[in-house]
Amino acid sequence: MKVNVVTGGGSGIGKAVAAMLPKDGPVIIAGRTPQKLERTALELNAEGCRILTAVCDVSKREDVRALALYASSLGDVDRVIHCAGVSGSMADRETIIRINALGTLHVNQEFFKVMRGGCIVDIASDSGYMLPRILLLRRSAYRLALADEDAFAAKAARKARLVGKDRIDCQIAYMISKDFARRYSERCAFKYMALKGIRVFSVSPGFVKTPMTELEKSKESENMLSYTGHRRGADPEELAYVITALADERARYLIGSDILCDGGAVNNGFGALTARKRCKERSLTENW
Ligand SMILES: NC(=O)c1ccc[n+]([C@@H]2O[C@H](COP(=O)([O-])OP(=O)(O)OC[C@H]3O[C@@H](n4cnc5c(N)ncnc54)[C@H](OP(=O)(O)O)[C@@H]3O)[C@@H](O)[C@H]2O)c1
Repeated sequence: MKVNVVTGGGSGIGKAVAAMLPKDGPVIIAGRTPQKLERTALELNAEGCRILTAVCDVSKREDVRALALYASSLGDVDRVIHCAGVSGSMADRETIIRINALGTLHVNQEFFKVMRGGCIVDIASDSGYMLPRILLLRRSAYRLALADEDAFAAKAARKARLVGKDRIDCQIAYMISKDFARRYSERCAFKYMALKGIRVFSVSPGFVKTPMTELEKSKESENMLSYTGHRRGADPEELAYVITALADERARYLIGSDILCDGGAVNNGFGALTARKRCKERSLTENW
């Protein structure tokens, strides 16, 4: 039996993905809040889905390992859609790095161990494209993440503090974490395909109307919408369609790429504008 897993499946993009995945096997939705997961499972099962729930904090490797073992005990893990994440308004800098960056590392590594083919889709963000060049993590940062997760989290969180003050530093931590997720996903792709035939790629959404963006409404997000072709944010289902279509076996030639699904905002110049603005706030010298 084929088993699908959606981290962050209790709400937003993850919930829309769980509803849209093929119904030929169970879909495990995972997150930190049991009540949210149960509510979503009840709703989607009433619509004909086969949803199971698992409590899991992706920032904790042991939780992700248990999730991967649970999923593989039910059958062949076929698709892992890693949507769990927090925004810059939802946590402090280090927690953002631990959930979004190290969470991606945990999900990819632990599911790699139990999968025999299939695909892993990591949800990054258009914010990763807006990171000022000077804040991009160097190669040594990826080595550090693999060797010492605590040291990596502390260092990446310090880096975010270099540019921003107050709550801006958390927005920068979000950008750093999502840039990491996208690049880490790319790094996994070639190795995972060569060793086990597992496809890995990432999707970077722009502004999507979910519980997360309810908290993020700001002048900047409104400004961003004016850079999209549609002049509006996406519905979660619009992202879920892209994700589930590309996770389909028929899209098997796609690996190691990031799919930027942001209504065209970044290519219309929004990222460059944001990066210039951030860089003006302070000049930077720190090296990794
Ligand atoms: N909405 C957007 O505009 C947008 C844009 C770009 C990228 N994204 C990315 O898309 C993904 C989905 O976001 P969304 O907009 O659908 O937001 P959402 O509705 O808040 O969904 C995020 C889900 O992740 C779960 N989660 C958070 N921290 C977790 C953790 N440590 N371990 C396990 N689960 C965790 C949350 O549930 P619990 O709190 O119960 O754990 C929640 O159900 C995120 O990675 C986000 O960064 C969203």
